[in-house]
Amino acid sequence: MHRSVVFAALSLLVSSVAGLPIQRRTDNATDNSANLLVLKFANVLEQLETEFYSQALQKFQTSDFTAAGFSDASVPIQQFTNIQSDESTHTTVLESTIQSLGDSAITGCSFDFSSVLTDVATMAPVARLVENVGVGAYLGAAHLVTDPIILTDAASIVTVEARHQTILNVLNGGTAIPAAFDLPLLPQEVLAIAGPFISGCSVGIDALPSLTVTNTDTIAAGTTLSFNFDAQSSISDTSTLSCQMLAGGMPFSLTLPFDACVVPSGLQGPVAIYVTNDTQPLANNPRDRFTGNIVAGPTMAFLDGTPETLSNLAKSGSAVSGGDVSGSATDTASTEISTSTISPEEASSILASASATATASDSSATGTAEDANSIPSSANTTTGPSSDGAINVDGWTFVPNPASSSSA
Ligand SMILES: *[C@@H]1O[C@H](CO)[C@@H](O)[C@H](O)[C@H]1NC(C)=O
Ligand SMILES: *[C@@H]1O[C@H](CO)[C@@H](O)[C@H](O)[C@H]1NC(C)=O
Ligand SMILES: *[C@@H]1O[C@H](CO)[C@@H](O)[C@H](O)[C@H]1NC(C)=O
Repeated sequence: MHRSVVFAALSLLVSSVAGLPIQRRTDNATDNSANLLVLKFANVLEQLETEFYSQALQKFQTSDFTAAGFSDASVPIQQFTNIQSDESTHTTVLESTIQSLGDSAITGCSFDFSSVLTDVATMAPVARLVENVGVGAYLGAAHLVTDPIILTDAASIVTVEARHQTILNVLNGGTAIPAAFDLPLLPQEVLAIAGPFISGCSVGIDALPSLTVTNTDTIAAGTTLSFNFDAQSSISDTSTLSCQMLAGGMPFSLTLPFDACVVPSGLQGPVAIYVTNDTQPLANNPRDRFTGNIVAGPTMAFLDGTPETLSNLAKSGSAVSGGDVSGSATDTASTEISTSTISPEEASSILASASATATASDSSATGTAEDANSIPSSANTTTGPSSDGAINVDGWTFVPNPASSSSA
């Protein structure tokens, strides 16, 4: 796009975002405190996203991308560059909007991504996480916005974040559009995930405690998850704890015993995982989501169906085990996932089947991990039948948690 077009579009957006709230403010002493809280929080997240892509693009060369399995490094680099530009523009525009309401953006934040910028294979799933958390953050804050113009402007950002999300799904070998719904995340939930990257500033919102999945073997449907979180050592009786999984479109979370937190088959797309100290499911609706029972989390994971042809296009033949396209097509047919959203009834049945397979399978049921042709290979993604053939493995991407990283 020509530079002048970008500037024209930007100034149009700035005036559209910033104009009306100013008028309201002079006409009527509107209480903008809630709007400002959301705008300032969104601005910090956009700062984080901008920094993440800036640092990644600065650190990694063409050879780093090809080493991670991209047949043509310009494919991811072009997209990352474009996304970085969007995030930077969002940051600037949100800052102007905050100023137009008589306040100033939060400054002084430092963003340390050193633990996840070790190589492209580690960075790419984190980029995917960042985009999903970004989408979740805008959705989860929407009910707090009291000005419909600000709400519309925020919506015009979230649709773009969703495009980024799809690109990152594809670049990670995942399902481009994994579910019919995205998952709203409350600000304190967003900070449980993104908070460990941020230091040096206060966003005025208390983060929920971070949660880390500690399984080291590849995770798949049927795997029992193990966790680490700060308060864990002080909880003597873990039988009072639950593990909860919430995905877009589910009205309530799946609730499982903490000690039998088995990845169900039939879930697809990004999943938020929590530890709670009772069995009360978490509501999807962010306005009504009770967070008082959350002991730690959420952490995010991605459940992908069989790799799509589109994702294969971004990669070299060597990344696809056997490079057999017809084989992939067969796999797609045999492991097709019929539904991406689940009713409470379906949730119960998933729960039942997950419990049934909990003892039948173990974390070594990963015979097809090499067939997942995932990028990156270290991302713990797998797809296909379990080794005993009893369950369908939807695939799982383990996203590194900076809080637990020892390579800081
Ligand atoms: C501002 O508008 C609201 C309704 O939008 C009204 O209730 C309030 O009284 C107004 N305040 C002033 C100072 O005019
Ligand atoms: C459950 O956890 C929350 C958040 O840590 C805490 O405030 C609450 O007291 C806990 N409830 C019980 C029964 O342990
Ligand atoms: C899964 O991820 C963990 C954490 O990044 C890593 O230590 C482990 O080696 C990975 N496993 C596989 C099979 O890639």
